[in-house]
Amino acid sequence: MRIMTDLVLETSNLTRFFGEKCAVYRLNLKVPKGVVYGFLGPNGAGKSTTLRMVVGCLRPTYGKIKVFGLNVFSDRVKVMEKLGYLPEKPVAYPYMTPMDFLVYMGRLSGLTRKEAVEKARELLDFVGLGRLAYSKVNTLSAGERQRLGFAQALINEPEFLVLDEPTSNLDPVGRFDILNKVRRLAEEKGLTVLISSHVIPEVERVSDYVGIINNGLLVVQGRISDLIAEEEDEYLLEVSDSKKLLERLRKEDYVIEVRARDHKSVYLKVDLNKSKALWLTLPKILAEEKLALYGFRPIGDPLERLFLRRLGVAR
Ligand SMILES: Nc1ncnc2c1ncn2[C@@H]1O[C@H](COP(=O)(O)OP(=O)(O)O)[C@@H](O)[C@H]1O
Ligand SMILES: [Mg+2]
Repeated sequence: MRIMTDLVLETSNLTRFFGEKCAVYRLNLKVPKGVVYGFLGPNGAGKSTTLRMVVGCLRPTYGKIKVFGLNVFSDRVKVMEKLGYLPEKPVAYPYMTPMDFLVYMGRLSGLTRKEAVEKARELLDFVGLGRLAYSKVNTLSAGERQRLGFAQALINEPEFLVLDEPTSNLDPVGRFDILNKVRRLAEEKGLTVLISSHVIPEVERVSDYVGIINNGLLVVQGRISDLIAEEEDEYLLEVSDSKKLLERLRKEDYVIEVRARDHKSVYLKVDLNKSKALWLTLPKILAEEKLALYGFRPIGDPLERLFLRRLGVAR
């Protein structure tokens, strides 16, 4: 019997030692189809080692990797057809031009010369390298090479895109641009993307799922909206009369702390175990007290807090 799976990537007990050093230990990654999965962790956590194994460039010490249900090593050709990979340090032949390089890579992936040229043009424009199409690769900046690597990862129209810190050499505008493109590929073309980063807001901006790795161990994994819902406990409310709201909220048992910041804004900290009651009682309180609600937002960055907490840096 074939078991249907909607996981594009599934690893079980994925482990890699370098000599005595354990870089990745018993990782069980699950990347559902069609999502952007942010693989977050500090430098040296094991991100690149994991991604190199996932794309079949590095043998695990033990553990299994399934991509589209296939074994990355024994079904190599089939997997490679569907996979695009931007390595941490993208390589391109220094004396080739970006155009030549992409055409060459396109030919290797089975395109005719004409198809490869068309695809290369389209991708160079897409990644913002159109004007450098005929410069030599060795004259490109690190950021431009990264963009070229991004284009190369897309040349075979992959269904699963693996990007190892694709923005590490880019300036803030470039980062924003590439991340938007990643998001668009996922939303418009249905690509599944696994993207590593050590920058929390970046992951937050593009990803639906997150996996946090530290010292080779996966410390948490899941849908970001679910994970941060468990972290949000501080809010700022803006209302027409903060005193009235304050008096009512003081009586609620899910409230840990509440105070007025000024006559229109209220700081609220809730007990996460009871916070469901907040969503039920707050509308009632506002209606009964005839209060207008101008703003309601969580304070701080819940994903950052989750990250720091799981790494044992914060409470
Ligand atoms: N080829 C290698 N030989 C020895 N140690 C390695 C090798 N590659 C990675 N490591 C070690 O494995 C750990 C994880 O590295 P890496 O996967 O590159 O982390 P990240 O990408 O999260 O920064 C680090 O301690 C690194 O020094
Ligand atoms: Mg790395």
